Amino acid sequence: MAPAYVTGKTELDLMNTTSAFNTAGARPLQFPIPANVYAETVVSVKHYTDRLFSFRITRPQSLRFRSGEFVMIGLPNAEKPVYRAYSVASPAWDEELEFFSIKVPEGPLTSELQKIQVGDTVIMRQKSTGTLVVDALTPAKRLFMISTGTGIAPFASLLRDPDTYEKFDQLILTHTCRDNAELVYGQELVSALESDPLIGELTTGRVTLYNSTTREESARMGRITALIGSGKFYSDLGIEKLNPETDRIMICGSMHMLKDVKELAESLGFHEGSLSHPSTFVVERAFVG
Ligand code: A2P
Repeated sequence: MAPAYVTGKTELDLMNTTSAFNTAGARPLQFPIPANVYAETVVSVKHYTDRLFSFRITRPQSLRFRSGEFVMIGLPNAEKPVYRAYSVASPAWDEELEFFSIKVPEGPLTSELQKIQVGDTVIMRQKSTGTLVVDALTPAKRLFMISTGTGIAPFASLLRDPDTYEKFDQLILTHTCRDNAELVYGQELVSALESDPLIGELTTGRVTLYNSTTREESARMGRITALIGSGKFYSDLGIEKLNPETDRIMICGSMHMLKDVKELAESLGFHEGSLSHPSTFVVERAFVG
């Protein structure tokens, strides 16, 4: 199973698995593709900061996944490749797969993954899974998607999926990062929604992006927990307070944030749901940050 949420720290903790890695980049394949994994081609790469990048790969025809789920991906650069859990950032209907990744200079996977170029091969285990799926929540009026850093990825998938709009009237995405440049992925995502030929019309007037920085001066500063706790979140948006009668919550990002927002949700009367027991909030604990 996937490691717990993989932050830079966890990747460094796992470095004893790195010895087989080559540093030559992923061009000519030096190792055979392992059995029972998909080998896909990189279609595009976009670097946002020296810590964050996104990339798109071809989609295996037989892959089925729910928007919001994660897959295990790796590089064919060792006999026993290292795999990490990555939330798919593209929706279930998309012909390609998009991912949003951190770069850890000495991380066993991301130190190499950050060097990928168009045409390179990325490998992927065949099963997708995850808790951030709309079917793990009961229907409601508003869906709050709380994210930090690359934890926005599953919401990038869900915000581009018509099913999300069928189940909820209003979608409020929060994204908190250390600095302004790290917010760009989410800003681009939300500003592209209305002009999307497939789902644009559905999204009009229904999606709110609420972002903040914690380490660089910006128009809005502070952790989401503090912004909700002080009431600034509600007054900034002019919305009613979180209420399990009308709202659902999905949480993804920094491990400490997961814990704090889960506690906050529970203190407000929300209950954790799953596919077998849908309820009022869900948390993703396994994905690359
Ligand atoms: P901070 O800068 O105050 O630590 P990271 O880049 O380390 O994954 O963090 C992403 C964002 O998550 C940062 O803005 C960070 O704020 C914020 N964050 C970290 N821990 C928490 C927490 N317990 N509650 C809310 N936000 C958090």
